[in-house]
Amino acid sequence: MTQLGQSITRIDARAKVTGAALFPGDVNIPGQLWMKVLFARRPHARIKRLDVSKAQAAPGVVYVFTARDVPVNEFGLGSKDAPVLNNDEIRWVGEKVALVVADTEQQAEHARDLIEIEYEDLPPLIDPHEAMKPGAPQVHPHYAGNVMKHIPIRKGDLETGFAQADVIIESEYHTPAQEHAYLQPEAGVAYIDDEGRVTVVVGGQWTHEDQEQIAHALGLPLDKVRVIYPAIGGAFGGREDMSVQIILALAAYKLNRPVKIIWSREESIIGHHKRHPMWLKSKWGATRDGKIVAAHVEIIADAGPYMYTSPKVLGNAAFGATGPYEIPNVKVDAYAVTTNNIVTGAFRGFGGPQTHFQAESQMNKLAEKLGIDPVELRLKNVLREGSLLSTQTPLPGGIVSLPQVVQKCADEFGWAKRSAVGGRRSSVGFGFACALKNIGFSFGYQENAWAKVELHGGAEIEKVIVYHAAAEVGQGAHTALAQMAANTLGVSLDKIEMRVSDTNTSESSGSVSASRMTYIGGNAIKGACERALKKWSDEERPAIAEYKYLAPPTTNFDPVTGKSKPNVAYGYVAEAVEVKVDTETGQVRVVRVTCADDVGKAINPRLIEGQIEGAIAQAQGWTIQENFQSKDGKVLTPTMSTYLIPGILDVPERVDSVILEYADSDGPWGARGMAEMPFIPLAPAIIAAVHDATGVWFDEFPLTPWRVLEGLKKNKLDAD
Ligand code: MOS
Repeated sequence: MTQLGQSITRIDARAKVTGAALFPGDVNIPGQLWMKVLFARRPHARIKRLDVSKAQAAPGVVYVFTARDVPVNEFGLGSKDAPVLNNDEIRWVGEKVALVVADTEQQAEHARDLIEIEYEDLPPLIDPHEAMKPGAPQVHPHYAGNVMKHIPIRKGDLETGFAQADVIIESEYHTPAQEHAYLQPEAGVAYIDDEGRVTVVVGGQWTHEDQEQIAHALGLPLDKVRVIYPAIGGAFGGREDMSVQIILALAAYKLNRPVKIIWSREESIIGHHKRHPMWLKSKWGATRDGKIVAAHVEIIADAGPYMYTSPKVLGNAAFGATGPYEIPNVKVDAYAVTTNNIVTGAFRGFGGPQTHFQAESQMNKLAEKLGIDPVELRLKNVLREGSLLSTQTPLPGGIVSLPQVVQKCADEFGWAKRSAVGGRRSSVGFGFACALKNIGFSFGYQENAWAKVELHGGAEIEKVIVYHAAAEVGQGAHTALAQMAANTLGVSLDKIEMRVSDTNTSESSGSVSASRMTYIGGNAIKGACERALKKWSDEERPAIAEYKYLAPPTTNFDPVTGKSKPNVAYGYVAEAVEVKVDTETGQVRVVRVTCADDVGKAINPRLIEGQIEGAIAQAQGWTIQENFQSKDGKVLTPTMSTYLIPGILDVPERVDSVILEYADSDGPWGARGMAEMPFIPLAPAIIAAVHDATGVWFDEFPLTPWRVLEGLKKNKLDAD
């Protein structure tokens, strides 16, 4: 019996389409109070006076929390450098100043507006280039010169490399911020459970990390805090850092009452981190016959004032700077720089999309200059088995399928025949790009995941209970894990009962991020099932087994050369796109995308197609429609009516998903991770297609109509 490779209906589908599934905002506890947050809403200021007495005396108000109420007033994933509540120096608009808890939401909101606060506004530091200049004011006392983190990578010798180059492309790129825009804004409820634990029901990506950060801020032992995830309306990295987790726990703990919060969309956009905007200076050289010989890339990432997940984003950015290519001479410097802009952090691809945009645009420009087809140029340079990464180590996992992925994508798209459909300077254009995506956080972090399996029955297994902490954020993790359990045990899927996402019943599975759960979590499930089966065959009833999977170790970047074995595994992806550009209105329409992904083993092909189509819609939004705007640190697009994500009429008319299965030697049944991959090459593929259609290279996006028209106008002036 096999449950693998089948597009079975996801196990949470019925509850979600019938409305039976409870999301955090749907969970109500009898006697619950309501919370409202007072955000600073100014990028840089000192609080001179804070008076909550009128708010405290307002109708229905139970308590107003300020910084003095937080036992250990700090949080953060990369570093606990951010205050939970800030009554001192405000460093970004989403800083939380006070929390009002009242009988009703309206009362809490009313009282919040009675809080008296006197600010001394300070000049905000907005441009990371300014922030890096000697003598610039410090955004955060911890980070000398406002550099939160610097990652250098050195391989070979740059001068020698450029001396061998016949052509050189130099460019400066900028990539914009992006809002996660998940379906469900932040929400949750906290209460004290029967055993006296502060329990938080919330949406997140890593139950045990939330638990740790809550316990730390409340000054409680871990076992006094419990985190439960119900259904979650999307995450994309946006729930990786704390939003409402700690403040809910704080209020429930201090008041000994259930407390609930639901953020509005506007509060969500102001209150959680964004994708890092990046500035990239890039110089690549190639020989006449198309061998890339040198790459020099400098990356400046706007981190906002606090660390959040910036180190992981910067690591992937530095790693992605050379794209999926073997380049003998490399110099990369990546900087995360503090500013008073909105805080930035994880977002699908973790910095990979930003730096691949640079790498792939350089490749497409080189192809043009060399007169070599973009696909052919890639096939000459992509990483293969035994190739050395920029970090001077080979790729793990056996086969490196980039040549196959690139070729298959081109074939399925009909790349070679494309000029028959449209020509240069017409309004139709074609573009190509590819990428690699690491599976897992890694860079020295020991990847791990835990699972427990109980087999119940007599002669036959009648019921299986799987305990696991993986967050189901809409990606289908619970379904894929259940399929893997059923397959290992040789039982049908309806015998599997999943008990998930509760720190009280599971140990940590790590985060659902970095495309890691199918691979790392799948190996844990497989291991636990195999151990339980062994006990079952030894006549144990019920047969119960736990297993903690530890992935092969990795190493962090060497601080001088960047040398490292950075990741456990990789997935490989290529995309070809066709666009139509209206040269009168500047509108760019993505007509069709072919996306080829090596996923190692497709556990559930339909879920993979969902990830591909979702990633393409999201990446198209980042490239064309979405336009996160801020001025002097203030967000100008805090609503869905000003921050436009693609609608059904905007997404490509056609997406062809091509799933390839070159097994990874350590993945469960060969599976690689894949959720972020299809996001990564889309921006450079669209930019190349727009160039093909118009003759203009856009080194900045989104491709809003006015940017496109300006580019066309400038191009025409240059030509005249
Ligand atoms: Mo994501 S950026 O892998 O949560």
